[in-house]
Amino acid sequence: MHGGIEHRTGVLFVCLGNICRSPMAEGAFREGARRHGFSCLVDSAGTASYHVGSQPDPRAIAVARRHGVEIAGQSARQIERDDFYRFAHIVALDRANLEGIRARAPRDGSAKLSMLMDAVEGRIGEPVADPYYGDEAAFLTAWETINLGVEAWLARLMREAGALRA
Ligand code: 4NP
Repeated sequence: MHGGIEHRTGVLFVCLGNICRSPMAEGAFREGARRHGFSCLVDSAGTASYHVGSQPDPRAIAVARRHGVEIAGQSARQIERDDFYRFAHIVALDRANLEGIRARAPRDGSAKLSMLMDAVEGRIGEPVADPYYGDEAAFLTAWETINLGVEAWLARLMREAGALRA
């Protein structure tokens, strides 16, 4: 399509509520992929169901918008069984969510489970702190950390896509 890079991998970002961290990760990844002309299945979900159907938190929408990324059109959903077959990578925003994902993983699921910062040299295993009960500064910190992780995942998936075609 339009000379973009197409491939069969994909990434699902997962936090607790799917209204703060993973929507920011999804938005940042979509924008980065668009900039690179890289076409990749991307979505986000929560391990919890409290906010299913909700728009992202207004503070997440605001910090993303200030950085040129629109996430207001997203709607929260909970991770589901199919995700473990549809996505090459399921990427958790913190350790508790990685454990929550692991607990739901079907025995024969093909998705690889990781944490966002695992792709960033020197920051493997580092969580993205939940900004929900924090202030605007907490959302900015989360946005900045998420963007470091997302850039690294984008580079990794673009490399993987190249390897798939080779
Ligand atoms: P998220 O943040 O996991 O980054 O979407 C949270 C959103 C809602 C809640 C906790 C964290 N909550 O407890 O409702």
